[in-house]
Amino acid sequence: MVHEASAPDERAEQFDAWVADENKVEPQDWMPEGYAKTLVRQISQHAHSEIIGMQPEGNWITRAPSLRRKAILLAKVQDEAGHGLYLYSAAETLNVSRDQMEADLMSGKAKYSSIFNYPTLTWADVGAIGWLVDGAAIVNQIPLCRCSYGPYARAMIRVCKEESFHQRQGFELMMALSQGTPEQKAMAQDALNRWWWPAVQMFGPPDHDSPHSAQSMAWKIKRFSNDDLRQKFIDMAVKQAQALHIEIPDPDLKFNEETGHWDTGEINWDEFWAVVKGHGPCSRERMANRRKAHNDGAWVREAATAFAAKERARAEKVAA
Ligand SMILES: [Fe+2]
Ligand SMILES: [Fe+2]
Repeated sequence: MVHEASAPDERAEQFDAWVADENKVEPQDWMPEGYAKTLVRQISQHAHSEIIGMQPEGNWITRAPSLRRKAILLAKVQDEAGHGLYLYSAAETLNVSRDQMEADLMSGKAKYSSIFNYPTLTWADVGAIGWLVDGAAIVNQIPLCRCSYGPYARAMIRVCKEESFHQRQGFELMMALSQGTPEQKAMAQDALNRWWWPAVQMFGPPDHDSPHSAQSMAWKIKRFSNDDLRQKFIDMAVKQAQALHIEIPDPDLKFNEETGHWDTGEINWDEFWAVVKGHGPCSRERMANRRKAHNDGAWVREAATAFAAKERARAEKVAA
């Protein structure tokens, strides 16, 4: 670790060497301001995505077609709440308060994954989300288990185990539909048609348009570039779509013998940026729901704060 007492110009050098050697950085260690700032941005954005991400699927809990499917979906959505909580806690170790992070989400200063601004129109969307969105999340998050920042890396280990269950339940749901009646198969195909491109965009802008990537890689926050992760996901998903006997909605999708990877058609980055800037089909609704939940929960936070103060006063009285 880097000591606070080292000369300022030595600290940055020691830090880079420490991280380059695959050591973990812990909350009490000295770290460059930019490193902490990058992590707060990334971890809080990740936490917000988990919490906002409960909405599109939560929308189907009351309409799940069987008790088994309802139990699975409830467990999955609950897991996402847990992911949000681990991640807010990891971010709090960097001296940012949960209140501040919530305020930044509410004001629009902090972002969340643009995929959650798309609507869930049919039951098949629950399958497509588990298969593709949680599938993309795993590809993104497995390397984060080796992130140089200890609290984030440790949170990701458990998150990834749960994401793996999410991905499997989604794939299994898609399998049931694609082997069902022609109407069910059409529903699965329609869900893939609508979720494919937003899932491909989940890895963020192309490398040449991703200004923070190089520094994040040097600090070992990020291990692979957006485009590399995206390619990994595409190669995986193409095989899975073949197993499901449904078509990826991309007429230009083709196996490249030279690279050994699947090449896709043009990705619509204008749509991606429009959604990131808050113009997604459900952006307003998601934020309005989040704000309402935050306001409705104010009494719980106030009660917990009042109870903590009472406990503290009681403990002080006993001590005195
Ligand atoms: Fe999650
Ligand atoms: Fe998940």
